[in-house]
Amino acid sequence: MKKRNVAIWIIVLVSAALYGFGGVNKYFLISPEDVELKVPRGFPKPNYRFKDNKPTPEIFVLGRKLFYDPVLSKDSTISCGSCHQRIAAFGHIDHALSHGINGLIGKRNVPALQNLIWKDAFMWDGGVNHLEVQPLSPITNPIEMNESMAHVIEKLKHNKAYAEEFRVAFGDSDMTSQHLLRALAQFTGLMISANSRYDRFMRGEDTFSISEKSGLELFRAKCASCHEEPLFTDNRYRNNGLAPDTGLKDKGRSAISGAQFDEYKFLVPGLRNIEMTYPYMHDGRFRKLKNVLDYYSESRNFSPNTAKEMYEIGKLSEQDKKDIIAFLLTLTDKTFLYDRRFVDPNVSEP
Ligand code: HEC
Ligand code: HEC
Repeated sequence: MKKRNVAIWIIVLVSAALYGFGGVNKYFLISPEDVELKVPRGFPKPNYRFKDNKPTPEIFVLGRKLFYDPVLSKDSTISCGSCHQRIAAFGHIDHALSHGINGLIGKRNVPALQNLIWKDAFMWDGGVNHLEVQPLSPITNPIEMNESMAHVIEKLKHNKAYAEEFRVAFGDSDMTSQHLLRALAQFTGLMISANSRYDRFMRGEDTFSISEKSGLELFRAKCASCHEEPLFTDNRYRNNGLAPDTGLKDKGRSAISGAQFDEYKFLVPGLRNIEMTYPYMHDGRFRKLKNVLDYYSESRNFSPNTAKEMYEIGKLSEQDKKDIIAFLLTLTDKTFLYDRRFVDPNVSEP
């Protein structure tokens, strides 16, 4: 082969390698626009406003990398994204209870991650009250990631790429757990679902079928007192009458507050993207929305702590159930589910 041809080949191969390994795939680039907080029309004022944690592309990208990196777990097998799957609005499709390190089964259903900045308490029992400290819980939980913050930071410090990314993101070479937590809060805090068909219907940009309209009316009459629009939760602890699971013995809010009054109360879950987040309830006991509607229609074995609104639902006809489900399906937000900003950057084909 002639010398010139060899030189051309070397250039081609080196460029291909650079593009493949080191080169940045445009799909994963995040612009300043991408990280701007835009409060959707009709939504209340968020509770977490990124006041001391102004989103920047660099911090967001670092948060994204950390979210999908199993290095946060003791044996580097479990990432946040293992349990919180994007296509399930960051819940876990088809898992009733979470699965953590060493195949250990958790005690609760993985909740969707969406519209978190409107929450003032997290977890099914509100056991955590700040978005920035929330990840401490899964990282240190022995059946989730079983790691210590100090050791996570230690591991990251030994990783040149992370050291550089923290430096670029926060402008100093100090790698702290606070920076790590803030980066994660930027990534999870910007997970906003506000463009479902329901949202477009409310903005006058889409129409509902007769069944969906009737479902919305029934929902407003029977469900919205707890699942309040537009977030589909009133952010309060309620007992919706479920019989306690005798195996799990999960007493909900009372484990945090110590009050008998709070026994078997759970934070009302927002219902956006409910189509994708099955199975349902804190213990994943219902597989289908039909099971949920059958429950709300038929169950009457309530405990003294059950919310009074539950007595007002009454029996639902088969048509009522179909209509409410048709309405619930309008809460699926493809803009959010397919949002490229939240895709795992380690996958080659997004
Ligand atoms: C082993 C599975 C698992 C892993 C790993 C995991 N989570 Fe979770 N996550 C859960 C479960 C289960 C809950 C609900 C826990 C509860 O109610 O006690 C939850 C709750 C949450 C919540 C509260 C949501 C709400 O609406 O209240 C946030 C935010 C969250 N996780 C973020 C993260 C982040 C960030 C990471 C990585 C640092 C992570 N999770 C790792 C299973 C997991
Ligand atoms: C008294 C308040 C209240 C009323 C009224 C109510 N819910 Fe709920 N709902 C809750 C609570 C609390 C939970 C979580 C319970 C648990 O997991 O233990 C829940 C859970 C759900 C879930 C499962 C969500 C998930 O992410 O797993 C669905 C779906 C649901 N409700 C739909 C409805 C519909 C439809 C109606 C009206 C027919 C309704 N709810 C009426 C309080 C209420």
